[in-house]
This record gives sequence, structure tokens and C-alpha cells, in this order.
Amino acid sequence: MGKKVIGLLGSPLTEGNTAKLLEKALQGVRDAGCETETIVAANLDFQACMEMMFCREHDTCIIDDDMQPMYGKFREMDSLILATPVMTMGIPGMLKSFMDRFQVFFNAKYVRRQPFITKEQKKRRQALFICISGMKIPEVFAGAKKTVEAFFDIIDCKYWDELLINDMDTIRDVSAHPELLDLAYKKGFALGELLKKS
Ligand SMILES: Cc1cc2nc3c(=O)[nH]c(=O)nc-3n(C[C@H](O)[C@H](O)[C@H](O)COP(=O)(O)O)c2cc1C
Repeated sequence: MGKKVIGLLGSPLTEGNTAKLLEKALQGVRDAGCETETIVAANLDFQACMEMMFCREHDTCIIDDDMQPMYGKFREMDSLILATPVMTMGIPGMLKSFMDRFQVFFNAKYVRRQPFITKEQKKRRQALFICISGMKIPEVFAGAKKTVEAFFDIIDCKYWDELLINDMDTIRDVSAHPELLDLAYKKGFALGELLKKS
């Protein structure tokens, strides 16, 4: 079986610009011979972390919702592509809540010192961050990047590369900019190639 890459979409728009860039990157991954699965955070039915602390002592969260199957998928995947628009100088709320629910991984790794990801898996787990913003202003990606770096660390994925595109509200439809879609494709392809060698 080929290596598996999860594409996590933070935009609620499954046909928006972020989604188009993510799909191009995933196409690159597949063309390099790996498998992909897309997860849309906004389409899942789940609660925000309620700090019930069940995961301090257990390998999962006490809240029984759509996050439960996510833990297994994120343990088993070989790499991740996270694609999101900037919202309010950070990331969309649903995506942030999705990440917060990975306190399950945080507690295993940092509190109980029994990480879910083995050393062997950790060596090959890479992450590509795709992020777009409406405006072209200084530090527009800074907030999103900080959060994403923390998330990649918690789930034991190396921050491998990024594709940050600002001024998207001027660009409007990314389909009219094949050069931007091509950038996403190439990064996805390079990630797939890297994984195949690992
Ligand atoms: C609620 C909301 C908040 C936003 N906040 C910002 C922001 O702080 N800075 C920025 O540059 N763009 C902001 N944007 C613009 C989006 O990043 C931009 O329109 C992006 O292209 C949306 O991507 P999508 O269509 O793939 O979801 C915001 C958009 C929304 C809907």
C-alpha cells in the first residue's frame, strides 16, 4: 500500500480558492504515487474542547463525536497538507477547534510521555502548510503560522514547507492563475516524492 497523505481543509468553502489549491497539491501527491484523503473540518459534527481532562489519563477524548475517527487517521497518516484561509488574522474557528481537540495527542506526548507516533513514523511525517489571505498587509500570516506550527508539533509532523499567497481578494478566482495552482501541484508532488523515498 502507498504512503498516505491527509489534506485538511480549514475553509468552509469546498469549492473556494483554498480548496482548489489543496486539491492541486493533493493531485501532485497522487501523481507521485501516494494515497490521499481530504477532511473538511467545517463538515464535521464536533464540539470545541471543553477541558474535561479525560485525555490526561486516556488515549482519547470523552466527547463522542466526529473527532473520534480523526485520532486514528492522524496517528496512521504518513504526512499532512493543511490548507486554510486567514480569518481575523488567525485561522477559521472550526479549524482551531479541530486542532484544540488534539489535546489528546498533546497529553500523550507531553504529559504521559507516551507519544502515539513512533520514532520511525516521526522520521517520515512531513507537513505542508497552504495559507491564503484576502489582504496584502504585514504579518498577515503570522497568527495562523504560530497556531499551525504548534499543531504540527503536537501531532509530530515536521513543518516541511509552506505556500503563502496574499492579496487573494484582488486575485479573486485562483483558477484564472494557473501559475499559483502549479505552485501547489509542485509542492504536493515534491512531498509525495519525498515520502516514497522514506
Ligand atoms: C470571517 C472572515 C475573516 C477574514 N479575515 C481576514 C483577515 O484577517 N485578513 C485577511 O487578509 N483576510 C481575511 N479574510 C479574507 C480571506 O482570507 C480570503 O477571502 C480568502 O481568499 C478566503 O478563502 P476561501 O474562499 O478559500 O475560503 C477573512 C474572510 C472571512 C470570511
